[in-house]
Amino acid sequence: MKIFAWSFLLPAFLSVSALAAFPISSLRGAVSTPGNVVPNKFIIEVDSLSDIPTKRAIVSRDAHETLYVHMRKRNVGFGVDKEFNSPGLFVGAAVTLSGVDKLHAQGIAGSGIKIGIIDTGIDYTHPALGGGIGPGFKVIGGFDFVGDAYNGSNTPIPDSDPLDQCNGHGTHVGGIVGANPGNAFNISGVAYQASLTAYRIFGCTGDVTDDIIVEALLRGVSDGQDILTMSLGGADGWTESTSSVLSSRIASTGKIVTIAAGNDGAKGVFFTSSPGNAIDAISVASLDNTVIPLQNATVHGVVHDPITYFDTFPFPVTATLPIFPTSTDPTVVDDACNPLPDDTPDLSNFLVIVRRGTCTFVQKLTNVAAKGGNVSLIYDNGTGFTAIDVGNFTSTLIQTDDGVFLVNAFASGANVSLSFPQSGASAQFPDPSGGLISSFTSYGPTNDMFFKPAVAAPGGNILSTLPVPLGSFGVESGTSMATPFIAGVSALLFSVKGKSPEVGTTARTLLETTAQLISSSHTDGDPLQTVAQQGAGLVDAFKAIHTDIIVSPGEFLLNDTAHFVSLHTFTVKNTGAQVKSFKVTHIPAGTTLSLQPGTDFPADGPVPLSNISATVKFSETSFTVHPGQTQELTAHITAPTGLDPSILPIFSGFVQIANANESYHVTYLGVAASLKDAQVVDTTDTFFGFDLPALVDPIGDVFTGPANFTFNDTNFPELLMRLDFGTPLLLADLVDPNIKITTTLNRRNGLAFPQTSPGGTFSQIKTLGSLFEFDFMSRNSDQDDGTGFNLFNIASPLFANGTTIPNGSYKILLRALKMTGDPTKEEDFESWLSPILGIEVPN
Ligand SMILES: *[C@@H]1O[C@H](CO)[C@@H](O)[C@H](O)[C@H]1NC(C)=O
Ligand SMILES: *[C@@H]1O[C@H](CO)[C@@H](O)[C@H](O)[C@H]1NC(C)=O
Ligand SMILES: *[C@@H]1O[C@H](CO)[C@@H](O)[C@H](O)[C@H]1NC(C)=O
Ligand SMILES: *[C@@H]1O[C@H](CO)[C@@H](O)[C@H](O)[C@H]1NC(C)=O
Ligand SMILES: *[C@@H]1O[C@H](CO)[C@@H](O)[C@H](O)[C@H]1NC(C)=O
Ligand SMILES: *[C@@H]1O[C@H](CO)[C@@H](O)[C@H](O)[C@H]1NC(C)=O
Ligand SMILES: *[C@@H]1O[C@H](CO)[C@@H](O)[C@H](O)[C@H]1NC(C)=O
Ligand SMILES: *[C@@H]1O[C@H](CO)[C@@H](O)[C@H](O)[C@H]1NC(C)=O
Ligand SMILES: *[C@@H]1O[C@H](CO)[C@@H](O)[C@H](O)[C@H]1NC(C)=O
Ligand SMILES: *[C@@H]1O[C@H](CO)[C@@H](O)[C@H](O)[C@H]1NC(C)=O
Ligand SMILES: *[C@@H]1O[C@H](CO)[C@@H](O)[C@H](O)[C@H]1NC(C)=O
Ligand SMILES: *[C@@H]1O[C@H](CO)[C@@H](O)[C@H](O)[C@H]1NC(C)=O
Repeated sequence: MKIFAWSFLLPAFLSVSALAAFPISSLRGAVSTPGNVVPNKFIIEVDSLSDIPTKRAIVSRDAHETLYVHMRKRNVGFGVDKEFNSPGLFVGAAVTLSGVDKLHAQGIAGSGIKIGIIDTGIDYTHPALGGGIGPGFKVIGGFDFVGDAYNGSNTPIPDSDPLDQCNGHGTHVGGIVGANPGNAFNISGVAYQASLTAYRIFGCTGDVTDDIIVEALLRGVSDGQDILTMSLGGADGWTESTSSVLSSRIASTGKIVTIAAGNDGAKGVFFTSSPGNAIDAISVASLDNTVIPLQNATVHGVVHDPITYFDTFPFPVTATLPIFPTSTDPTVVDDACNPLPDDTPDLSNFLVIVRRGTCTFVQKLTNVAAKGGNVSLIYDNGTGFTAIDVGNFTSTLIQTDDGVFLVNAFASGANVSLSFPQSGASAQFPDPSGGLISSFTSYGPTNDMFFKPAVAAPGGNILSTLPVPLGSFGVESGTSMATPFIAGVSALLFSVKGKSPEVGTTARTLLETTAQLISSSHTDGDPLQTVAQQGAGLVDAFKAIHTDIIVSPGEFLLNDTAHFVSLHTFTVKNTGAQVKSFKVTHIPAGTTLSLQPGTDFPADGPVPLSNISATVKFSETSFTVHPGQTQELTAHITAPTGLDPSILPIFSGFVQIANANESYHVTYLGVAASLKDAQVVDTTDTFFGFDLPALVDPIGDVFTGPANFTFNDTNFPELLMRLDFGTPLLLADLVDPNIKITTTLNRRNGLAFPQTSPGGTFSQIKTLGSLFEFDFMSRNSDQDDGTGFNLFNIASPLFANGTTIPNGSYKILLRALKMTGDPTKEEDFESWLSPILGIEVPN
């Protein structure tokens, strides 16, 4: 299994995408062989959009075997409540949200707590991270499980030194947990007195396999870490991967395990990451900050306000540059998409102004560079003011009005120039999504209806430490940045309450019941964000640590309608010295319209929400609890009615216990449908233009009738399929070509889908042998980025057990077990029969 670390996010990825067809060429380069052999799988780390191998194939077999995901870059963000302007370079934000600064003021900073950070290592030479490694330093130790050259597919070369000076992700994470205050940027880690141990499981680039994560987790346990934190994972949906199961077991012993929920929010519900889906771990969502730290350029020659450009740090340009627009008409939609005219002057000493639209930013900038232009600003065309991918060029986005002003001023003959102050020009640009869950946060719940993420923390535009050779400080965004915040809060909790297993096993409940509820938008009347994305809300560290009201449990898991749990008991314990009275109320969150209308495809994020909610009845609607007493209550929850179950509406909300001064909540989530009814296998032609599943070959042929294969380099069958929902069990068997069975999915046989019981029992279907079998397969997404489809290459004529398949004529019977289905019942599977394939290996 491959797992990746989320480094950065680029909003271009996060935009809502229509159901774009996948070109058949996207299959090329796919590497997969079915069977028991785990083939090489690739998760490619990319630093920028332009590096994404969109034409490469993506093979996502079993999510627990293969997770191919991109590292992404994004410079927008959030999570700020303390400004600083030191050393004048940058107005950033030290995240002190959630009461962490108040705890620091009380001297609570995680002293005596050991935190293991499983990541790219830590640059412990950084002064803010203690300047060394070993006893007496902040970073007390660590291990490098892989070595610099490891990329996820080559052999790890371990050594004892977890130094991170080539990647930076782990150093950023480490700073969020534990950076010492008093540094140049005045940031402080959440638990800056805690002791850190760096478990390096990534090389300078690339990904990591599940076995190495497992090794690092076990090492963390044997080293006596109190907390283990992992800002890594891959989109999944299941709770079953080895590292998930191990993380959960470690958490159940009383250690706190914090894991990122994932950055796949654009891909809809049931798609949180592994190992973050670990049942007893704390999966973390990201919250957007209210401002984005950006830079201003100064306008000369005409009177105009400073122009805010989308960059955290100033352009490395000290000259005042006259502007040169590539078009004097600000309505030209494809500005600079073609080579610039021959009469274009040498642009090397101009600031080039280009309009957004039609072609990629890099293409525009390449055309500008062909004329010598090396500093430019691209003005928005109304799409939105965000970070953009500009490759290695010195360029970024400005707003539409500013760009139109500059072009018109130039066109009217004004002598306009711009300069880029190297200090003092930081602007706090209001983030329209500030205070909301970051749109990139992956949506749960898990396929088996546990809610993930559990809680949210600031995870966008977080200023933290970077390796000294990479600049020492920097701003990054992602659930990777939210996760160490929760690890730090966990250290504060242990340091105040003691390191007992009980504190560890109840930590998530405490964080959940004291969190702050988060809305789905800034529009009045819109519902709270679904629990499937916000979990129990934004962590409130001060309240969690100092509350004397203990509510338990933190979660009501209602499951689906076929396994519905409507009656729940909870307790409210008063550990304080004052009598307290509370009212009990139901606060619904939005219900997800999980599928795209008229399809079985998950709706892209932001997932549309409905106001239709569950109803909840309580055993008491108000009560008084005396010091030392515990009040027991029950909640009886009824799923919402009036919603179409075929769109898998996930409903959720909160049982709130509140008085004028304080409030707590238990968070619930269920789905108003039977998941067994959810379509598993995509049978449409939406993505490839031909019906799926399909037999194809490496040169792009699609076989709708009989075909023979010789099994040379280019002539072997590949099974192409997509999953609309995860399946607990996927079986591909060879059968006699004349077999008489009724399958549920073959449309060409005149059968609509889904069909009910094909009849017979599982064992009655006579198969000739297994080609492959996978359990707990993740669903696919509608993006051609490695999660879009599965391609099983049958490159050798072998059964799963390695035995050669005799030459002859066969069909492939594909069966996918429905969610909550019984693997011994044929009718609980969706099934599909391939065209005849002849195995004709020359002698
Ligand atoms: C990993 O590195 C090896 C060389 O050590 C190289 O052959 C392989 O292609 C690399 N894989 C990826 C995914 O970059
Ligand atoms: C650092 O933060 C502290 C606390 O907010 C403040 O008092 C101090 O002035 C800041 N120092 C700098 C250099 O900004
Ligand atoms: C940055 O520019 C914006 C827009 O002109 C302006 O409102 C803001 O005051 C400027 N901030 C600084 C620090 O120059
Ligand atoms: C652009 O590059 C050229 C050649 O390296 C250099 O002379 C020029 O100063 C650069 N322009 C700016 C604005 O940095
Ligand atoms: C802006 O650019 C985007 C990206 O090329 C394009 O999809 C959109 O249609 C353009 N909008 C306008 C108003 O030109
Ligand atoms: C950007 O620069 C880096 C480092 O110099 C180089 O490795 C990379 O190939 C460049 N990328 C592009 C798209 O030019
Ligand atoms: C244009 O403005 C620049 C910078 O303000 C100045 O150096 C230059 O002399 C001006 N040129 C003209 C023709 O006014
Ligand atoms: C929901 O029910 C299914 C089927 O019994 C079960 O496998 C799953 O664990 C249940 N989920 C929860 C959260 O209890
Ligand atoms: C929810 O209800 C409010 C008030 O009736 C309405 O303004 C809002 O648009 C509704 N939101 C959705 C998502 O239906
Ligand atoms: C496949 O090979 C068999 C045996 O040689 C032959 O009878 C059959 O016609 C071939 N089928 C196709 C579609 O070429
Ligand atoms: C592979 O086999 C196919 C079908 O027999 C044939 O057309 C093709 O030329 C062969 N390719 C190679 C590289 O041998
Ligand atoms: C491998 O599987 C095939 C097909 O089920 C079967 O005929 C064969 O006996 C198996 N071989 C071994 C060694 O188990």
